[in-house]
Amino acid sequence: NVDRQTLVESFSGEKFYLIEVIAFILQYLKDLLIDHHCRGATPLKTTDFDWVITVPAIWDARGKRMMREAAYMAGLLTESKRISEFTPISSSPLPVPDEVNPDKLSLALEPEAAALYSQETVAEQIKGQPSAAAISHPTEYLVIDAGGGTIDITAHVEVDGAIVVQNVPIGNAWGGTQVNEEFSKLLQKIVNDPGFEKFIASGEYTKNQATLNKIVYNEFEKQKVLFGQGKMEEIAVELPINSVKFYEEALAEGVKKMSGVEYEDDTLYINKSVTESKLFGPVIQGIIDCTLSAIDKIDNCPNTFYLAGAFGGCKYVHEKVSPAIKRYYQSKGHTDTCSVLVPPTPHLAVATGAVMWRKNPEKFKARRVDATYGIGSATTFDPKKHDEAHKYYSEDHKKDRCNHIFRIFLEKGELAKADEVVTTTLTPSREDKTIMYIRIYSTPQLGIQYIKDENKKLIVTIIGELVLDVPNPDNLPLRQRKVDITMDFSGTEIQAKARYHVTGKEVKTVCDFLST
Ligand SMILES: Nc1ncnc2c1ncn2[C@@H]1O[C@H](COP(=O)(O)OP(=O)(O)OP(=O)(O)O)[C@@H](O)[C@H]1O
Ligand SMILES: [Mg+2]
Repeated sequence: NVDRQTLVESFSGEKFYLIEVIAFILQYLKDLLIDHHCRGATPLKTTDFDWVITVPAIWDARGKRMMREAAYMAGLLTESKRISEFTPISSSPLPVPDEVNPDKLSLALEPEAAALYSQETVAEQIKGQPSAAAISHPTEYLVIDAGGGTIDITAHVEVDGAIVVQNVPIGNAWGGTQVNEEFSKLLQKIVNDPGFEKFIASGEYTKNQATLNKIVYNEFEKQKVLFGQGKMEEIAVELPINSVKFYEEALAEGVKKMSGVEYEDDTLYINKSVTESKLFGPVIQGIIDCTLSAIDKIDNCPNTFYLAGAFGGCKYVHEKVSPAIKRYYQSKGHTDTCSVLVPPTPHLAVATGAVMWRKNPEKFKARRVDATYGIGSATTFDPKKHDEAHKYYSEDHKKDRCNHIFRIFLEKGELAKADEVVTTTLTPSREDKTIMYIRIYSTPQLGIQYIKDENKKLIVTIIGELVLDVPNPDNLPLRQRKVDITMDFSGTEIQAKARYHVTGKEVKTVCDFLST
C-alpha cells in the first residue's frame, strides 16, 4: 500500500521517499533521451514529447498515481521543473506536485502493450507468408508477460479490429530476478552463511553489500542469460576476490557436501541438473502456476498464447512453459492443440507496444475493472433491507434513514466499455449544506453493502474526493438539489467528476489516491 510517504532504504541504511527515487530515475532516463535528440537538425525538447509510462496491470490505482506524480516531479511535462535533491525525511507529508500538462502523460498497462505488440507483429508475419504460418490470424489470445520482477497475464478478444480485455489482471512475482534470488539462497547454503551475515559483518557494510550484488546481479546474471539462451549447459560464476578470501574454506567444504556444484580457481560451477531444479525450477513453476490459474479463470480459453518479456522470450523458459500449457489445455477437454508463440523481439514487446497504444488508444474497447468502486450514501431506512446498526433519524427528511450505504458504480470483474461512463445522482444530506465532500471508495471484495462495519469503522479504502459547492440561494427542497457523479473506468486511470444541477457547475477529481 504505497503512498507519498513510503520510504525506501539504500544499502547503507539511508532512507529516502520512494516517489522521489522514482522521480530521479525518470529524470535520468528523460535526460538521456533528450540528450540524444537535442543535437540533431531539429532538436527536440521535453515538452515536444507525449510520454507513456508502462506499469504492471496488477498495480492498483495508488501505484499508478504514484508514477504519475513522480513524472510531474521529474519534469517530464514541463521545461522548468526538475527534482534536484532528496527531501529530508520528516513527519510532514510531501506536497502534492502541480498537475501541469497532465494530458501529455499516459500510463499504459504492460500486458496490454505486450499484447498489442504481439498481436500486430504476429498478424504481419502471417500476412507476409500465409502458407508458412503456424497459425491463422488469432482473434482470441492470452499474453504472458514475464519480466524481471513480475508475471502479468491478460486475455484479449478482437472484435471488428478492436480489443476487449477479458480478465481482471492476473499476475505474480515470479519474474527473472527470482532466479538470481534462488542462486543467492544456494550460495548461502554452500558457504553456510545464512543471509551472508558473517560476510557482511566482516568488513565495511556498503562495500560487502556491493560485492554480494556484483556476484548475484552481475556475474551470475551473465551466466543465467547464456543458460537461458541455450548457449551454455552449466553455470560458472567468477567470485570477486574479497568474497573468495573470506569464503575460501567454506566454499571448499560446501561443494563437497552438495552434488552438482564445484569450486575451482575462484569460480563456482553449477551443473545443468542443479541449475534446472534449484535455480530455474521454482521460477518456471511460478509462471506455469499463474498461467494455469489464468486458464481456469478465463471463460472459453483461447488457443493462442503469446510469451513475451525478456524472461518469457528466452529459449529455456519457452521450452519449459510451452509443454505445460499444452498439456493443461488438452486436459481441459479441448480437441485442438494450442500454440505458445514468442513474438519477434520479446524483450521490446512492452516498450514498442506502449508506443502503438499511445498512437491508437481507441483500439481498446473495454476492460474488466480491477476492484469494486463506489461512493457512500444514505437512503430511507427499510427494515427488510437495512441493518439497524446504520439507522439514524433525519430532521431534514423527517424519517429514519440508513447511512453508510456503499453505492457501487462498478463491481470488480465487470466490463467497463470505452464509450461508457457510470453516473449516479445524490442530494446533499442536509438543508443547510452548501458544500459537499463526495468520497470515492474502493475494495477488492465483492458484495460489500456498507462502507462501515457495525462499529462505524471504515471497511473500504478512500481513493479520492470530489469537493463541490452546492449553494441554495432560492431555498429549493433537498430533492431538487441534485448532484450527478460520473465515473469513467475505461481508461488506464480512473476519472471522476460531479455536477450540481442548480448551478450547472462541474468539478473533476484529481483522483488523489496517495493522500488517504
Ligand atoms: N536469455 C535469458 N535467460 C534468462 N533470463 C533472461 C534472459 N534474457 C533476459 N532475462 C531476464 O529477464 C528479466 C528482464 O525482463 P524484462 O526486460 O522483460 O523485465 P522488465 O520489464 O524490466 O520487468 P517487469 O516487467 O517485471 O517490470 C531479467 O531478470 C533478465 O535476467
Ligand atoms: Mg516488463
